[in-house]
Amino acid sequence: MLSQIKSLIRQLFYRSGVFRGIVGCCSVMIGRTSGLGISHLLSYREDDAIGPLQRDEAMAMFGIIRTLRPKVVVEFGFFHGHSAYNFLQALPEDGRLYSYDIDEDSIRRAEREFSFERRFTFVGKSQTAFEACDVGGEPIDFVFFDAAHELELNIETFTRMVAHLAPEAMIAIHDTGLWQRRHFTPIHATFTREHAGEWVSDELYAHQPGEREFVDWIVAGQHGFAAIHLHSTRTLRHGFSLLQRQRTLVAPVPAVQAGLRA
Ligand SMILES: C[S@@+](CC[C@H](N)C(=O)[O-])C[C@H]1O[C@@H](n2cnc3c(N)ncnc32)[C@H](O)[C@@H]1O
Repeated sequence: MLSQIKSLIRQLFYRSGVFRGIVGCCSVMIGRTSGLGISHLLSYREDDAIGPLQRDEAMAMFGIIRTLRPKVVVEFGFFHGHSAYNFLQALPEDGRLYSYDIDEDSIRRAEREFSFERRFTFVGKSQTAFEACDVGGEPIDFVFFDAAHELELNIETFTRMVAHLAPEAMIAIHDTGLWQRRHFTPIHATFTREHAGEWVSDELYAHQPGEREFVDWIVAGQHGFAAIHLHSTRTLRHGFSLLQRQRTLVAPVPAVQAGLRA
């Protein structure tokens, strides 16, 4: 009998958004969980986001940061603060975000609108001027590249910072995907006429080819990074790539212990 009632409640939970909302509110009220802090994502743009990361990318990034709980995050490219705010919502209490930008409007916005946030430091200089002291000299756990979009500047920045990355640091590079023509809205068509992207086929457009080359450059280098790509041509996706130093999860068993003889 009790298991039947529980099953009915679960059926209601799976089928009714209102009921899920009530259960969620009750869970927060009785202290079973804290709020998720994702309400800001409701106002982020998805299909016509040009500049900030897209809503669904922000959602993925939020989950990654919540999963990793990094202490030091560095962002290149503050712009209007969308990705910065998303990082801050996901970061733990002892986490810190250092965000770089050179644009006057971004500098003003960061000062005026983010001054309430003690975990946030704005660095008003170019990504290529990165210095370890900007980020308190601590190992960097997570880096987000979304600024210059130029291969040479990204290489210069990476070269300056690689020695300061934590051993398991993750690097995220935005705008590495391809836009599929059939998902274009008018702003994407305009972008292809006004910017120096590249059509890689009749249907697929690299809106930031420099970022794609940058990922390949890191992976081909001697620092041992491997990449996965959060790309899709099933929607209009800017895409981002995640890089981390390759490592084995299980230490190789010494030959003698494994019963093998040289
Ligand atoms: C695509 S926007 C960043 C969007 C932001 N990450 C978001 O998702 O909300 C790029 C920003 O990088 C900045 N930028 C361009 N070149 C830069 C450089 N060399 N160093 C630092 N910031 C730069 C621009 O001023 C612009 O605000």
